[in-house]
Amino acid sequence: MRRPIVAGNWKMHGSQALNRALLGELEGQVKPEWPIDVVVFPPFVYLTDTVRTLEEGHILVGAQDVCAESGGAFTGQVSASMLKDVGCTFVIVGHSERRRWYHEDDSLVARKFAAAVSGGLRPVLCVGETLEEREANMTEAVVGRQVDAVIALHGISGFAEAVLAYEPVWAIGTGRTASPEQVQAVHAFLRHRISAHDAKIAAHLRILYGGSVKAGNAAELFAMPDVDGGLVGGASLSADEFRQICAAAAVRH
Ligand code: PGA
Repeated sequence: MRRPIVAGNWKMHGSQALNRALLGELEGQVKPEWPIDVVVFPPFVYLTDTVRTLEEGHILVGAQDVCAESGGAFTGQVSASMLKDVGCTFVIVGHSERRRWYHEDDSLVARKFAAAVSGGLRPVLCVGETLEEREANMTEAVVGRQVDAVIALHGISGFAEAVLAYEPVWAIGTGRTASPEQVQAVHAFLRHRISAHDAKIAAHLRILYGGSVKAGNAAELFAMPDVDGGLVGGASLSADEFRQICAAAAVRH
């Protein structure tokens, strides 16, 4: 059975004091015996402090982005091996905010995915359609293209370590969640797409839903057969909301 993941994408929020307070609450409330992986994704500058604060704990740490290059003269960038060096396990690639505001296209996202895997990190590959694309019935074409770009560059093997996150752009930070049925349909499509390359990898691949996940809707989303947890933005900044989302994932199976 696939072990659910609840991932907290803090985006560009927090401070050392706020993060430590949040982590202190989470460590007490998210029980180590829950059969889930819990990962927090602070901004780069707080990664080391977060890893230290969580040392010996059961909550894992990931980064929000990574450079596609492995090292060298790339001012301002952070490599996968550096993230691994400071204690990261996961890294988000292809978040819609990176695609939109920093013009990351499918081929750059694929290169970041490859850099993450070769640097020893587990990529969380985000895919998702805009509202216009959904209304034009292009959802499957868009998410299929986004996944295919990674497979074309890297092959299917990277998905043995990776996590996929379906995040419809229209649901991120809007309070407008996709319905459990809409989410299940896209997740099943994605698993099928991967399965065409490798059925075993597809069966084990964890596919998260992201987009206005909160305590009030987590259980119905996680009840869907192909939904293996959530990538949580806004609600991950509240220990109480995040704990409730983790608790919903923990009773999923
Ligand atoms: P949200 O963000 O939960 O605030 O909608 C999700 C994400 O962008 O990962």
